Amino acid sequence: MSKQNESNEVATSVERTPAALDQTSTAQQAPVLIARHGPISLMRLNRPKQLNALNDALMDCLGEALIEADKDPAVMVIIITGSDKAFAAGADIDAMKHYDFVDVYKNEYISRNWETIRKVRKPVIAAVAGFALGGGCELAMMCDMVFAADNAKFGQPEIKLAVIPGAGGTQRLTRLAGKAKAMDMVLTGKMIGAEQALADGLISRVYPLADLMPQTLSVANDMAKLSLPSLMAAKESINRAFEVPLSEGLLFERRNFHALFGTADQKEGMQAFLEKRSPSFTHR
Ligand code: CAA
Repeated sequence: MSKQNESNEVATSVERTPAALDQTSTAQQAPVLIARHGPISLMRLNRPKQLNALNDALMDCLGEALIEADKDPAVMVIIITGSDKAFAAGADIDAMKHYDFVDVYKNEYISRNWETIRKVRKPVIAAVAGFALGGGCELAMMCDMVFAADNAKFGQPEIKLAVIPGAGGTQRLTRLAGKAKAMDMVLTGKMIGAEQALADGLISRVYPLADLMPQTLSVANDMAKLSLPSLMAAKESINRAFEVPLSEGLLFERRNFHALFGTADQKEGMQAFLEKRSPSFTHR
C-alpha cells in the first residue's frame, strides 16, 4: 500500500485502488488513491507528472470510487484532493488534442463520467492545493464544499486553447461569483489566488498549506458525527436552489424539513440537546 503524500493521515487508513484497476495497476500508478479514515473516504488524484490532468482513466476511476463510497454505509463524508502542487491542472490536453466533434459527441465526453459526482448524495469536500485550472476548477466547483490552501490558484484558461470551459465552468462559476467575475475569468483565462477565490464565493475556507488536510479531515470528522439523513436533505435542498424559482425551492426545503421529523435522529438530537449530552445518531 502506498503512503505517498499521506504523512498527516491516521495509521489505520487503508489506501487502495478501485476494484477495476486492481488487476492492471499498482497503487502507485493508479490515477486515484483511496484511503479510509474511519467514516471519511479520502480520494487523492494521482497523476503527479501531469499535474493531475484529468483523463478518462482518472475520471472513470474517480466516478467508480464516488459511487462505491456513496453506497458504503460506513462512509459519511467524501474528500477529493490532489497534491501540494496541483489539485488538477484541467482536462488532459494531450488526450484531447486529436479529438474531433464526432468523437466527443458520440462518446459523450465529460457527460459520460465527469458528471457521476452529481449522483452522490453524501457530502463531498474538495481540498485544493496548488493549481485548480480548467476542468480542475470545475471539478472543485462540482463538490459541495471547497477548502483551499493558501497556495491554491483557480482559473478557467480554456479560452487560451481556443475552447471554452466544458465541465460546467460557465454555469457554476457564474452562479457562484456572478456574471462580471465569471466573464473576467473565462474571457481572459486569468488565474486568481485563494483569498480572491474566497472573496468571489468559489470557496469557503483558506488554510496554510500544511493545515489543509488536517483541518479538512477535522471538519469532515465533525460532520460525520451528524445525522446522515439530515446532511443528505440539507445538500439536496441547497442544490435545489440552483434549479428552481424561490417559491418551489422553499416548498422543497419545507417538505424536507417536515420529513426529518419522521426520523429517530430528530428525536435523539432534540432530546440530547435538552439533556445537555452529545447525541448518538443511528442515521435512521
Ligand atoms: N493536460 C495535460 N498535461 C498537462 C496539463 C493538462 N491540462 N497541465 C499540465 N500538464 C503537464 C505539462 O504538459 C507538463 O508535462 P511535461 O513535463 O511532459 O512537459 C507537466 O504537466 C508540468 O507542467 P508545466 O511544465 O507546464 O508546469 P508549470 O509549473 O510550468 O505550469 C501550469 C503549470 C500553469 C498549470 C501549466 O501546466 C498549464 O498552464 N497547464 C494547462 C492548464 C490548462 O490550460 N487547463 C485547461 C485544460 S482544458 C479543460 O480543462 C477543458 C474543460 O473545461 C473540461
